[in-house]
Amino acid sequence: SPLITVMIRAAQKAGRGLVRDFGEVENLQVSRKGPADFVSAADLKAEDTLRQELTRARPRFGWLMEEGGAVEGEDKDRRWIVDPLDGTTNFLHGIPHFAISIALEQEGVPVAGVIFNPVTDELYWAERGVGAYLNDRRLRVSSRSNLADALIGTGMPFKGRGDSIGFQRELAMIMPHVSGIRRMGAASLDLAYVAAARFDGFWETSLNPWDVAAGIVLVQEAGGFATDIDGKSPALKADTVVAGNALMHKTLAMAITKARAPRPPKAANAS
Ligand code: IPD
Ligand code: CA
Ligand code: CA
Ligand code: CA
Repeated sequence: SPLITVMIRAAQKAGRGLVRDFGEVENLQVSRKGPADFVSAADLKAEDTLRQELTRARPRFGWLMEEGGAVEGEDKDRRWIVDPLDGTTNFLHGIPHFAISIALEQEGVPVAGVIFNPVTDELYWAERGVGAYLNDRRLRVSSRSNLADALIGTGMPFKGRGDSIGFQRELAMIMPHVSGIRRMGAASLDLAYVAAARFDGFWETSLNPWDVAAGIVLVQEAGGFATDIDGKSPALKADTVVAGNALMHKTLAMAITKARAPRPPKAANAS
């Protein structure tokens, strides 16, 4: 559709800037937003590019941007949710696994998404009712039902951010039952990998809407589920996102719920 075309063009333009900056990453201005939370000139430039391109095409839409925050539009029903550089830590360490993530939210629901890794030139896109694609190939979530063969993506809290003990409990509940776990470092691509059946499932806590909005559309349009741990509530507003095919999604959601259940105090050995 014209809309997806606009989103793809904006992502490609911002992507060219990111690739240039990635080539001289050691010269980039970097500042710290909080503990282990960095933002570089590349994040800011990419966000400016997206803002310019998307504003030109759809001047009335509102915004939610990682760096620029929320901006009301004349159109109260539609807004762009953008992460100009998802995977900043990878980027700053010279690891070519990062993406631009753009979603269109309509009446609170993400309806179109583009996730672009400009280094590999992998362009993931999806639109409600149209399907999910990697470049021009139609995507379908994994059909694996055997947990023992499943490769599961996750994200773990950075130092000083998030609930690291809680994450360790979840990992202990899931890791022994699956074939492998990956922490790739860009949540948008993790969800795109679920849509592309590279991952059989994914979960992560403490993500923000800009990390997941586009990925949710990708996963859903590829026939999968992306929700909170109750298996139903929309992932966009959730603290934790769980994704996968019907079975993996349910299994992961149950395992995480179990990992979070309050545990009874250790029974004193009654004699
Ligand atoms: C981060 C990445 C990472 C996830 C973090 C996010 P950023 O986004 O998606 O995989 O574990 O929670 O904050 O800051 O690089 O855009
Ligand atoms: Ca960030
Ligand atoms: Ca992000
Ligand atoms: Ca970011």
